[in-house]
Amino acid sequence: MKNEGFSSRLGFVLAAAGSAVGLGNIWRFPYLAAKYGGGIFLLTYLILMLTFGYALLISENSIGRMTGKSPIGAFRDLCVGKGALGRFISCGGWINAIVPMIILPYYCVIGGWVTRYAAAFFTTPVSEFSQNSASAAYFTGFISATWEPCIFFVAFMLITALVVCFGVEKGIERFNKILMPLLLLLIIGICIYCLFLPNASYGVKYYLLPDMSKFSHMTVVEAMGQLFFSLSIAMGIMITYGSYMRRQDDLVSSVNHVELFDTAVSFLAGLMIIPAVVAFGGEEAAGNAGPGLIFVVMPQVFASFPGGQIVGAFFFVLVLFAAATSAVSLLETNVHTVMQELKISRKIAIIMCLFEVVVIGIVTVLGYSVLSNVHPLAFIKGFEGKDILDTLDFISNSVLMPIGAIFTTLLVTTIIGLKKFCEEIKTTDKPWYRECVYRFCMVFIVIPCLLIVLLNATGVLN
Ligand code: ALA
Repeated sequence: MKNEGFSSRLGFVLAAAGSAVGLGNIWRFPYLAAKYGGGIFLLTYLILMLTFGYALLISENSIGRMTGKSPIGAFRDLCVGKGALGRFISCGGWINAIVPMIILPYYCVIGGWVTRYAAAFFTTPVSEFSQNSASAAYFTGFISATWEPCIFFVAFMLITALVVCFGVEKGIERFNKILMPLLLLLIIGICIYCLFLPNASYGVKYYLLPDMSKFSHMTVVEAMGQLFFSLSIAMGIMITYGSYMRRQDDLVSSVNHVELFDTAVSFLAGLMIIPAVVAFGGEEAAGNAGPGLIFVVMPQVFASFPGGQIVGAFFFVLVLFAAATSAVSLLETNVHTVMQELKISRKIAIIMCLFEVVVIGIVTVLGYSVLSNVHPLAFIKGFEGKDILDTLDFISNSVLMPIGAIFTTLLVTTIIGLKKFCEEIKTTDKPWYRECVYRFCMVFIVIPCLLIVLLNATGVLN
């Protein structure tokens, strides 16, 4: 099988940043920041990003580059001949490979919602969203229909598949090289608009000034969970993209750029959304918005300010770009794993992966559908009263991802050895200033943090 890869360091940085920057940054980060205290959440997130998040991000990329393999093959190659411990740790490859297979179907469902909203802002007068009840009814009406969400889900999935069909360099690298600079321009432009809204300064203060009285252990727990999702950690993606990286390229500075890009977009997303929502409905509206923030509250915000129609349209195009570049990385990871494990061509692997996405995605869409007042999938119960999408999100994010990351940390510290691994990271003569931070985190910080995320999933910490 021909070895594919990125043609340049910039290609890798933009593709990995494109994977990291997604719904997590624009949809999830702002509502978590608003809910968990604004400035204090932002500060906690930044500290964790520079330590815990950085250590896992660089580890995964380096594992991929060392082996040139997908998660299953990478863990298997590194654990071979290491006895019972090696056989046990090699299971981590499977966990890292299964996670993107669970996430991609529901990611495409949300991608379909975003596509629908982007289209709506070009065709529907924004005044239709001006009342809370009307905006909520629009959203519920759309997701509880049957055909429309299915069509938008399939459309989003096919765009993703088309990019992956063209391969790593001609598809993924080219797609990200076009979309990522556009995404940055859009987010900066919309941020400037939001910051000049009347009363935006209250929201800016809430978002930027840490208030210790709003700090609780949940601030840390939620910031850690968010880091996973946002950095595409424990989804097999960074191992896969690392495997496409050229050995002569500087891994340390490439990862710094990905980290910076992802953090900057999350920061700007908060700056774009929180002051606007606070200006519109006060701190409480921002704190209580939850996952409905971009689909229910933001359309009302746009309806209430001048120029909202066009800014709203650009906003949803921005979210669409972010979602598409991440969905491409999820599908590519699945395709790469299937190609390597079954030794089949890219085309056949794409067809197999799309089949899985269609089956789980349609079940997820129908999980919200109401047909003639009947819930067709009422017999499928999610976990603890959650709907199907939330159940898939819970299994992947709260359970499998922390477990997968524990395996990755154990692979580095016990099977490969930190000293050898650090040499592997430094393939150029450039100094690695954060090596001490990396070593410290891998030994003392990462596993306790991961155990806390797992414990939170059991509900003990709430
Ligand atoms: N990292 C991607 C996101 O933030 C999955 O949406």
